[in-house]
Amino acid sequence: MIDRIHNSPGGCVMVVFGASGDLASTKIAPALCSLRTQDLLPESFRLIGYARSDFTTDSFRERIRQSLEDSRIPDSAGISPRLQEFIDTILYCRGDYDNAGDLERLAAMVTGLEREMPEPHNRLFYCAVPPQVVMGLVESLCDIELLQRRQAGEEAARGFHRVLLEKPFGSSYATACELNDGLRQHMETGQIYRMDHYLAKETVQNIMVLRFANAIFEPVWNNRYVKNVHVTVAESDGIGDRAKYFESSGALRDVMQNHVLQLLALFAMEPPVSTGAAAVRAEKAKLLGALAPLSDEDLRCSVIRGQYGPGFSQGEKVPGYRQEGGVAADSCTETFAAVRARINNWRWSGVPFYLSTGKRLARKLTEVAVEFKDVPHKLFGGEKTGLEPNMLVIQVQPEERVSMRITTKVPGFGMKLSTADMDLPYSARFTGQSPEAYERLLLDAINGDPSLFAGSEEIELSWKYVDPILEFWQKGPKPAFPNYSPGAWGPIEGKDFFREDVCYAELKTGI
Ligand code: BG6
Repeated sequence: MIDRIHNSPGGCVMVVFGASGDLASTKIAPALCSLRTQDLLPESFRLIGYARSDFTTDSFRERIRQSLEDSRIPDSAGISPRLQEFIDTILYCRGDYDNAGDLERLAAMVTGLEREMPEPHNRLFYCAVPPQVVMGLVESLCDIELLQRRQAGEEAARGFHRVLLEKPFGSSYATACELNDGLRQHMETGQIYRMDHYLAKETVQNIMVLRFANAIFEPVWNNRYVKNVHVTVAESDGIGDRAKYFESSGALRDVMQNHVLQLLALFAMEPPVSTGAAAVRAEKAKLLGALAPLSDEDLRCSVIRGQYGPGFSQGEKVPGYRQEGGVAADSCTETFAAVRARINNWRWSGVPFYLSTGKRLARKLTEVAVEFKDVPHKLFGGEKTGLEPNMLVIQVQPEERVSMRITTKVPGFGMKLSTADMDLPYSARFTGQSPEAYERLLLDAINGDPSLFAGSEEIELSWKYVDPILEFWQKGPKPAFPNYSPGAWGPIEGKDFFREDVCYAELKTGI
């Protein structure tokens, strides 16, 4: 593993395409500023924002300053002089993604900055643009040689040229394959970094450590001991001002295809031979390739979608999805999606995996929860103990924690049982704050460490799994939306959702 300090000699220019968007101001800019504050960026590092919006360099810098106020930077001491100095070097270039003249202007800006920098000259291109724009943009950058093919061996002497691609990567299996093929024609595999920021979350990284650095879990990590697994990415927020993007995406493409399936893959894959990117990606791909294809019956009975109506969230009155600005009044875009998935392999055959994600749910909660089977013979209290089963919960958000629910004796003369959690909240055990996922990923991209980025095959296989769901929804009758209230856990709640024998389509859903 590479140390988490920048290790790239020379200068680095980073261009963020889509710089006027939400992601650039809420995640990318704060992450870069935080890295600068911690002295983790190369000394000679310059950032250029590129987008179609009418910013000037000054107004763009102001936007970044504003965005920092909502993030954890600056701390109580305010924006430090060092950070201010960094912000004052940021440039903005207004341009279209398919206009050669605009991109030539950008190229002149980049080479102008590089003239002032020590060699080698490294370039990082962050594409926070819609998936349909990516290929054309990359081709244009290659045409004007702003982006050049670089073998790994050449990077030290000539500088690296790397491209970071924001999700969604394609919008279907076919488009993801097309994008991967197209990128490979222009670049070496090692130049392509596909973002899935969930992979860089602290407790997500810990899934591998928990599984493979402890001897006690592997023996029970299979269908003999595990009854079911829940992978949940729930949010209490709505879509904010991302209506345009979300209307063309929906919860299945936005979160299920990537974050949820990546969590599942890390949880359920076979042990890789090393922690290197190639070894881990190969195992994740094998697992995703073993997901049982969804039959017509599965599509009807084991998949459910929802959309929130108006109501109250965390005590506040909130509009329904169809009332959000920019959303069609009869929109059928799903804001909730859940799948009861199966994995066709030796380890997991017969174990249901309940995958779910949604907006405006009861609270923000990202976790992987494993429910274990009952003991083979109930010594204490026969069948009617009413006790909950053993559960292992890896909570990613809002708190980072791992907890194990066990059954224990209640102290006293009798033999009364109760359940209790053996709990490891990171905040209590470890001091210091975990790095934000974007900080970690940006630093890794600068350092050339691809291990926390998604591989092309995993992405294609994830699309292959969700494509039939999208087609089934498109072909079928219009759903009766909205069908859940803000603050609920979706259209089907609790026990009904976690039942193996129930057909979701036959359950009564709705507000
Ligand atoms: C993004 C999705 O990838 O992940 C958003 O596009 C979602 O819709 C976000 O809100 C959730 O990320 P986090 O880190 O806040 O859990």
